[in-house]
Amino acid sequence: MINDLWYKNAVIYCLSVETFQDSNGDGVGDFPGLMRRLDYLHGMGIDAIWLMPFQASPGKDDGYDISNYYDIDPRFGTLGDFVEFTHAAKQRGIRVLIDIVVNHTSDQHPWFQSARSDPNSPYRDWYVWSKTKPKDADQGMVFPGVQESTWTLDDKAGEYYFHRFYKFQPDLNTANPEVQAEILKIMGFWIQLGVNGFRMDAVPFVIADKGADEQKPQQQYDLLRWFRALLQWRKGDAVILAEANVPPKQNLQYFGDDGDRMHMMFNFQVNQTLFYALASADTKPLIKALDETRARPDTAQWGTFLRNHDELDLGRLTEAQRKLVFDHFGPDPDMQLYERGIRRRLAPMLGGDRRRLELAYSLMLSMPGTPVLRYGDEIGMGDDLSLPERNGARTPMQWSDEPQGGFSRSDKTVLPVISEGPYGFAHVNVASQRRDPNSFLNWTERMIRMRREAPEIGWGAYSVVETGEKDVLAMRYDWRNNSVLLLHNLCDYPHKIALDLKMGEIGLRLIDIADGGHSQAEDDGRHHILLEPYGYRWYRIGGLDYILRRTEI
Ligand code: GLC
Repeated sequence: MINDLWYKNAVIYCLSVETFQDSNGDGVGDFPGLMRRLDYLHGMGIDAIWLMPFQASPGKDDGYDISNYYDIDPRFGTLGDFVEFTHAAKQRGIRVLIDIVVNHTSDQHPWFQSARSDPNSPYRDWYVWSKTKPKDADQGMVFPGVQESTWTLDDKAGEYYFHRFYKFQPDLNTANPEVQAEILKIMGFWIQLGVNGFRMDAVPFVIADKGADEQKPQQQYDLLRWFRALLQWRKGDAVILAEANVPPKQNLQYFGDDGDRMHMMFNFQVNQTLFYALASADTKPLIKALDETRARPDTAQWGTFLRNHDELDLGRLTEAQRKLVFDHFGPDPDMQLYERGIRRRLAPMLGGDRRRLELAYSLMLSMPGTPVLRYGDEIGMGDDLSLPERNGARTPMQWSDEPQGGFSRSDKTVLPVISEGPYGFAHVNVASQRRDPNSFLNWTERMIRMRREAPEIGWGAYSVVETGEKDVLAMRYDWRNNSVLLLHNLCDYPHKIALDLKMGEIGLRLIDIADGGHSQAEDDGRHHILLEPYGYRWYRIGGLDYILRRTEI
C-alpha cells in the first residue's frame, strides 16, 4: 500500500470551528474565521489540524449527531468555504484531519426518518431494530447518569432502536453492506475536498456486531482494513486516527499485525496513568502502561494527549487510583462526570501552576507517539463548569482582551466566553502571551519545535532508565544512531539522580536541547543531575550535532 508516513513525527492540533473564530458577527465560529487564524497555527509549528464535526447537525451532541454527511452546518459557512480552507491549509503545509462519525446518525437524518416511517423503506435495515425491548437495554450506556438506556421505543416504527450513545443518536447497522459502502463514499467525498484523513469516532462500536440477540458482540476488524485500503488508494498521505478506548491487549487488532488497519490510535492507557502520575508522583503505573502499549507495527503510531473535548476518562484505573486523581484534580462532584471522569480543562486541574503545566506538557510530548494538543491549552485556558456536561471545557478561544475575547463581535456567542476570574479572557489570551517571551504560549511553541527536532521519539524505541526514584521518569529513545534522554521529576521537591549510560557512552556529554545546560559524567562514570521540583530536562546523548547524523524517511 502506498503510504506517506508524515504522522510518525508530527504535532496535531484539535479545534472546533464553532468556537475558534467568528468572522461574520453571528456569535458562531466559521471557516472564514478559522482561515484568518491559520497563520497563528502555522507559527506554532503544528503539522495537522483535527477538526471536530462540522457537518449539518441539530447540534445536540456538539455536532456528533450528523443529519447530512455531505454538507456542512450552514452556521460555519459553505462547502466552498471549506475547500478554500483546505487549500489555505495545504499552502502552509498543514494537513487537515476531520472527525468521521459513522457509528450513528442524528435521529433527524433523512435515513432514520425514512426508516422509522415505513417498514419497507430502503433505509429500514440501515438501523438496528427490535420488536421487543431487549433484556440488556439498561446496560452498556456510554453516558451513565445522563443516558437511561441503549434501546428506545420509536412511536412511528412501533419498534425499539439501538443507540450506544444518546437516544437521539440511533446506531447505524454497520454490518449492512449498503451502510459499509456509504461510509466509504463519505470518506471518498471529503478526501476529494482536500482532507488528509480522519479521526474516526467510537471505532469499537462502529465495527461491533449490533442487535438484540448479541450477547457477546464481536468486532469485525476487516472493516478497518477496507477503510484503510480506500484511503490509501485514493490518497497516499491520508490517515485514520482511531478513537478506540480498548484494553491494551486488543490494540494490535486495531493496528493490524501487518499495519494494514488503523494508522493511529489514541493512547488512552497512557493518558489515564499519566494523570495518575501527575497526581501521585508515582510513575510505576505509567511505566506499565507504556510497556503494555509498546507493541505496534512499524508504520503505526500512537496519538498521545492530555485533555480532549470529552471528559478525562479514568475508567481504566483501579478504584484507589481513580479516587486519588479525583481528590487531586476534581474533588467536587460537579467537576466529575459519567461516574468515571473529570470534565475540567488542564490548567485549572493543575491549579494554574506553571511548573506543573510545563511538566505535564513536557511529559506528554515525550511519550512514544504523536502529540495531539487541544485548542486553548497552549495559553492555559480554563473552563466554565456552569455549562452542562462536557461543554464546560468547550468555550470559545480567547484571542485578546477585546470584548468576547476577540472571538466574536456579537454580544451573544454560541457558548459563553470565559470572562470572569483568573482564566477570564482579560488575563488569559493569545495577544498578550505573544508579546511576552516568557508566556506559556511561547514556551509551548519552543517545546513543539524541540519535539519535532527529536524524531527519535516518533520513530525510535524507548527504554526506561533506572534512577532509583519512583517519582522520576527517565526515558531514552534510540533511533538510527541518535539518542535522546528525557527526565521528569513529578514531585514537589528536588531530586538528585545518578544515571548510568551504556558502555561506550560513558564519556559522552548530555547536550541540553532546551537551554544549553549540558552534563558531563563525573569520576564514577555517572551523570549526576539535580532536578528542581517538577523539573524536566531534554538531552541529546553525545557530542556530535545530531543534524549531521539525521536521515530522512
Ligand atoms: C465520541 C466523541 C464524543 C461523542 C461520542 C458520540 O466519544 O468523542 O464527543 O459524544 O463519540 O459520537
